[in-house]
Amino acid sequence: MSAPGTETRDDDDRADGGGEDIVVRVRGLENRFGRQVVHEGLDLDVRRGEILGVVGGSGTGKSVLMRSVLGLRRPDAGRIEVFGIDTADADDEQRAYIDRHTGVLFQDGALFSSLTVGENVEVPLKEHYPGIDTRLRYELALLKVKLAGLPADAIDKLPAQLSGGMRKRAGIARALALDPPLLFLDEPTAGLDPIGAAAFDELVRTLQEALGLTVFLITHDLDTLYAICDRVAVLADRRVLAVGPLAEIERVDHPWVQSYFHGPRARAARDGAAPTNARALEA
Ligand SMILES: Nc1ncnc2c1ncn2[C@@H]1O[C@H](COP(=O)(O)OP(=O)(O)OP(=O)(O)O)[C@@H](O)[C@H]1O
Ligand SMILES: [Mg+2]
Repeated sequence: MSAPGTETRDDDDRADGGGEDIVVRVRGLENRFGRQVVHEGLDLDVRRGEILGVVGGSGTGKSVLMRSVLGLRRPDAGRIEVFGIDTADADDEQRAYIDRHTGVLFQDGALFSSLTVGENVEVPLKEHYPGIDTRLRYELALLKVKLAGLPADAIDKLPAQLSGGMRKRAGIARALALDPPLLFLDEPTAGLDPIGAAAFDELVRTLQEALGLTVFLITHDLDTLYAICDRVAVLADRRVLAVGPLAEIERVDHPWVQSYFHGPRARAARDGAAPTNARALEA
């Protein structure tokens, strides 16, 4: 896959993963709201084919980071490349390329409440492929609904007629509508019961393996980190404090990291033979 306008690429300043295939590259990111500085000098790479867990205390800027990468918020400084395209000066064709190859599940689910599940899944199809036959579009939506582990009859239901877990799956179905190689998930297991959360983790891992996805996964769920993440990035002090495999991150000498990874919930998650164990303790 080659994005438009990326034939010549400047690979001079890799802070991480030299030789790796980098799908998202963030350098020197700065975001501020008035006098509040959320990000400053934030660097991050997301490697092709990995599930990168993004963790950090509430308000550390995980969702703002995601919105910046998605082009929904223009950063105050820094550079963001997605598929090798510099998002700040992407032309319309490049912007459309990024959008078409990116799926998103927002923190609040963000399904259209007046549309059925199927119609929600069809929204990106209509937007990017307006000429597509109605029947085919419905069939494609049905395929995604099933892929997300929902029963076929969920396609004609309104979001309000689904359980929270089913709504998350509907959100995944919509995120996968265009078969994107890159998926952003913001707190996908928040609000799910332990078994539903473990099943959702399983779904994400299965989809990632089957479709070869790259996944940027914001979570506060320790079980998710231990169950499915290849690497973890910790947001603290306005930047990515550390990024690497869990075994390395657990050893980072920082108060938030220590209390997060070495508190009682972390022990339960780490020692759980199955991903559901620690959640069962919490429940
Ligand atoms: N549109 C906005 N206007 C003003 N401040 C904002 C805006 N969006 C986010 N912020 C602030 O930026 C900071 C980071 O917010 P963000 O939503 O990224 O946190 P988060 O790490 O995702 O937290 P949580 O884990 O609770 O979801 C917060 O202090 C928030 O109040
Ligand atoms: Mg958030």
